[in-house]
Amino acid sequence: MNNSRTSGAKIDISFAVNGEPKSVHVYPMERLLDVLRFDLGLTGAKEGCGEGECGSCSILMDGLLVNSCLVPVLQAGGSSVVTIEGLASGDTLHALQESFLQCGGAQCGICTPGMILAAVHLLEKQPQPTLEDIREGLSGNLCRCTGYMQIFAAVLEAARRGHLRNTSRITNL
Ligand code: FES
Ligand code: FES
Repeated sequence: MNNSRTSGAKIDISFAVNGEPKSVHVYPMERLLDVLRFDLGLTGAKEGCGEGECGSCSILMDGLLVNSCLVPVLQAGGSSVVTIEGLASGDTLHALQESFLQCGGAQCGICTPGMILAAVHLLEKQPQPTLEDIREGLSGNLCRCTGYMQIFAAVLEAARRGHLRNTSRITNL
């Protein structure tokens, strides 16, 4: 890990993750992505570029879509974070997860958690988006595999079904 991220003393930081209170003892400048993956064991958010360019580390923080590779964990204190692990309800997948499966929106899967969270964010704001809305809403998330059309189709399908079915319990949006 970069030394600038582990300078100073560790501190306790508390925040909610997927609706559950969490407390971690970490360096304040550690990346939220690393804390989620290594301290909390939530490996859904992926590291692609590590520079804020690819969106594979996307999560929701207080309802905003953020690249967790760019967020010092200190900034997450007191916030409410949603990761891909928080979307399913028991064995019941979120409507977007179902539609990505059905439409072939996931291949290698590296971009998929970030894509789905970007789509959740989009559909919260625009429940019935146009194709252009989807292109724009997912423009911060890169996919090397699918050519995007299956992903866009999956978002349209989830919108058709009503994606809010099992999201509101954790996002409170
Ligand atoms: Fe965070 Fe690419 S890993 S934007
Ligand atoms: Fe492989 Fe998108 S499915 S990068």
